[in-house]
Amino acid sequence: MVRYDLKGVRRVTDSQGSKIRIAVLASGRGTNLQAIIDATESGYIPGRVIVVISDKRDAYALERARKHGIEALFLDPSSCSSRDEYDKLLGDEIERRGADLICLAGFMRILSPSFISRFRNRIMNIHPALLPSFGGVGMYGERVHKAVLDYGVKITGCTVHFVTEDVDGGPIIIQEAVPVLDDDTPETLAKRVLEHEHRIYPEAIKLFAEGRLEIVGRRVRIRGDKG
Ligand code: GRF
Repeated sequence: MVRYDLKGVRRVTDSQGSKIRIAVLASGRGTNLQAIIDATESGYIPGRVIVVISDKRDAYALERARKHGIEALFLDPSSCSSRDEYDKLLGDEIERRGADLICLAGFMRILSPSFISRFRNRIMNIHPALLPSFGGVGMYGERVHKAVLDYGVKITGCTVHFVTEDVDGGPIIIQEAVPVLDDDTPETLAKRVLEHEHRIYPEAIKLFAEGRLEIVGRRVRIRGDKG
């Protein structure tokens, strides 16, 4: 069984004390990004968002970053001839800024295996369902909530997990359940699940930043968890 103690990846000598440096990748409106920024600014997460990177020039997430004085970087996929080339560029930009953790927050690209191994156990994602259900390639946005309703499950939720080469299949850090109501539509369900996303994503990042996560095989242990 492989055991990773994530304490080792935490930078202890940042100019801001012992705060971790977070890079957020986002393609859209960025409400999860906002929750992360708010949690760093309030001190809930001992860390700061040092850069927001998007593959979409007009992503509102970039605007949110600017409003908080955070560097907003658009990396144009059309400037690269392949996914590997783009991911190499992306990785170089992140590394240059000394990020300890990369948070995917509605980033609409599947990352290449070389990018994932370059930042092994330092990439997190949030998914709007209880994985391993309703995940994988093609399961994003409203499609997830539509699939949940079509299947007829009574409980859905959201999952924060580490990113591996297996899309939506990495070790799970936190999950939260959300009941499906009889009159739910994909829109109402998405809205309700999103409120929980905004709570558990900052919580998972906080645990990482505090060096309290340990990956043992597929399981993520939370140190100091009394629950
Ligand atoms: C969220 O539903 C998240 O679970 C998924 O993409 C969506 C991003 O929404 N990965 P936002 O841009 O954070 O508002």
